[in-house]
Amino acid sequence: MPLEQVDADPLMPYQLPFPPDALAEIVVPKAIPDDERLWVPQAENVWFRPLCLNRSQGYWMNLLRVRKSGVLSRHRHPQAVHGLVLRGRWRYLEHDWMAEEGSYVFEPPGETHTLVVPEGVPEMITYFQVNGVMYYVDPWGKPLGFEDVFTKIDLCRAHFAAVGLGADYADQFIR
Ligand SMILES: [Fe+2]
Repeated sequence: MPLEQVDADPLMPYQLPFPPDALAEIVVPKAIPDDERLWVPQAENVWFRPLCLNRSQGYWMNLLRVRKSGVLSRHRHPQAVHGLVLRGRWRYLEHDWMAEEGSYVFEPPGETHTLVVPEGVPEMITYFQVNGVMYYVDPWGKPLGFEDVFTKIDLCRAHFAAVGLGADYADQFIR
């Protein structure tokens, strides 16, 4: 038994206040949204749906959606990435495996890859946790640009303002 003492009332909720400095939770009722405006364009046929933009720890949780000929440009990860494929399938040009619907993927620090959707797949949606930065490079590693949680927040604010939701619509995802 892992507990040192018996819990007399396992169903009694915790009775004390949470730490006053704790951040608020985030609950997104429909993570795959019906409202198309919630998809933030990031490249041709590539969008992301923010869920948690964690500026305090430098990561972001999002749904990535890629349709048909969309490509997520070649980039390096200095920190780990976790992914769960919700719809469709995709692969990296640098690996021979396919991320199928239902797959979990761990991408270790040091990965450099280019995400493509194979022929015949109209759409893929994958839940990704991306830590730190995505560092865009040419095929020989020359830096071309980067994204981090702050550039993601900027993209969200600009997009939500442009589609009429207001720049501060992004605030609910920021911690
Ligand atoms: Fe990546």
